Amino acid sequence: MLTAAVAESAIRKRKGELGQFLTPAPVADFMASLFAPLPKVVRLLDAGAGAGSLTSAFVSHLCENNASVSAVEATLFEIDSLIQDALFKKMQDCQRICEKAGIQFSFAIHESDFIQEMSARLGDSLFDMKPLVFDAAIVNPPYRKISTDSAERRGLRHVGVETSNLYAGFIALIQRLLAPGGQLVAITPRSFCNGPYFRPFREDLLANLEFHRLHVFESRGAAFRDDSVLQENIIFHAVKGYKQPNKLVVSSSSGKHGDIVAEAKIPFTEIVHKNDSEKFIHIPSASGHAGAKKVMDGLHATLASLGITVSTGRVVDFRLKDALRMKPEKGTVPLLYPCHFNGGTVHWPKLDARKPNAILNNDETRPWLVKSGVYLLTKRFTSKEERRRLVACIFDPQDVDAEWLGFENHLNYFHADGHGLDRNLAVGLFVFLNSSVVDQYFRRFSGHTQVNATDLRTLAYPDRKTLQVMGSELKRLDEPQEKIDELVEKYIHAHQ
Ligand SMILES: C[S@@+](CC[C@H](N)C(=O)[O-])C[C@H]1O[C@@H](n2cnc3c(N)ncnc32)[C@H](O)[C@@H]1O
Repeated sequence: MLTAAVAESAIRKRKGELGQFLTPAPVADFMASLFAPLPKVVRLLDAGAGAGSLTSAFVSHLCENNASVSAVEATLFEIDSLIQDALFKKMQDCQRICEKAGIQFSFAIHESDFIQEMSARLGDSLFDMKPLVFDAAIVNPPYRKISTDSAERRGLRHVGVETSNLYAGFIALIQRLLAPGGQLVAITPRSFCNGPYFRPFREDLLANLEFHRLHVFESRGAAFRDDSVLQENIIFHAVKGYKQPNKLVVSSSSGKHGDIVAEAKIPFTEIVHKNDSEKFIHIPSASGHAGAKKVMDGLHATLASLGITVSTGRVVDFRLKDALRMKPEKGTVPLLYPCHFNGGTVHWPKLDARKPNAILNNDETRPWLVKSGVYLLTKRFTSKEERRRLVACIFDPQDVDAEWLGFENHLNYFHADGHGLDRNLAVGLFVFLNSSVVDQYFRRFSGHTQVNATDLRTLAYPDRKTLQVMGSELKRLDEPQEKIDELVEKYIHAHQ
């Protein structure tokens, strides 16, 4: 029993290290179906091939549907020695299937590190090697963070790719290996669509690939239910080229059988907004998303124009460990975590919580503290169960008596140049950010439960007067969702 548990945990660890989450067959079939017509001889790339299920789906689809392809030359990269036998056997199966369909199939498996090898080739360090070129790539790259000083990061930097996640490194290299008009179908986490760290990656991607389809799953983890991957996934079909199409297909499915639930053609300008310097990729996949975009398009204030700044809580608890106290005591001030959020307000102290409630107020900690005042706080991470992605609450000095405060790093706070906000303005922001409209809009570009300060900074906001009126009309902060939405309906929708 124990041995089985140990073996299981070793497998999990290895899977985690290699980012080995295999694509379920229905999803692989769906991905294979997305390719547009291909050349007669297809040079195919499967990077991070695992047991070969993507190449296999590609080949099956070709044999069943495509009369014009006469040969497939598959190149597969897979670093894991333990999966090589399965991969080799799968390629032999592909050969047999192709033979029956009158298609020539050849394959080369590289048991090597795709990132190291390709960045060396592309970066000219192995100049005697011919660069590889592909007409098609079908990939589910490994997902893992790569640290700044890792070999992967150095290799990628060498070819001008700056990214902190392995999957983005894979995609950036694959993009460079495609022939003009070459096609890429990939399944990746959705995090690159809005994370601030992915901006260089988004720019690189959007400048070199034309997007033809974006596909998302209705529920988180649907595509990889067995592996309980918590990231939301996206499938995209893109073509090497420099001019985005006017419209592209956005679709979504439950993920169970690769079944399409909804599909629509959306102008590219709605996917990446013209003046958005962050180049967020919006994916309007649910019916409410279009309406939300319309409402948000009617808003013209920015946080900066309102004189408001949003910052991430300055107290990083593990860096200031010695200054933290579980209970308030003499010489301390309140330290606020998301666990202090309660029905729209802050309930402090929370003595049964596992988090400290207080921080020393001294010369060392003062740079991390803020003067008390009315602040709007939002959680940086929401749980999957939470109904909305954005959860905002008000800190009111009337509830907590203190001169200084510590905001912990797991929350964002809205302030006026380091000071508190006018109360009605703060409550107006509370109404706006907690509304269903903003939630729907947010879900267009964010597929994960993290809310970055950059996300909040790039939103459009109602003008000061509208915020103040909404703020003055909300009498209680624990009103139900309907009441919040009514106010937004009354003061924002109705005026557009
Ligand atoms: C997310 S899995 C996908 C496997 C397969 N393509 C599929 O869809 O079922 C990613 C694969 O990449 C492999 N891998 C991880 N790092 C790699 C690297 N640096 N070079 C090549 N393969 C790698 C892992 O071992 C794993 O099999």
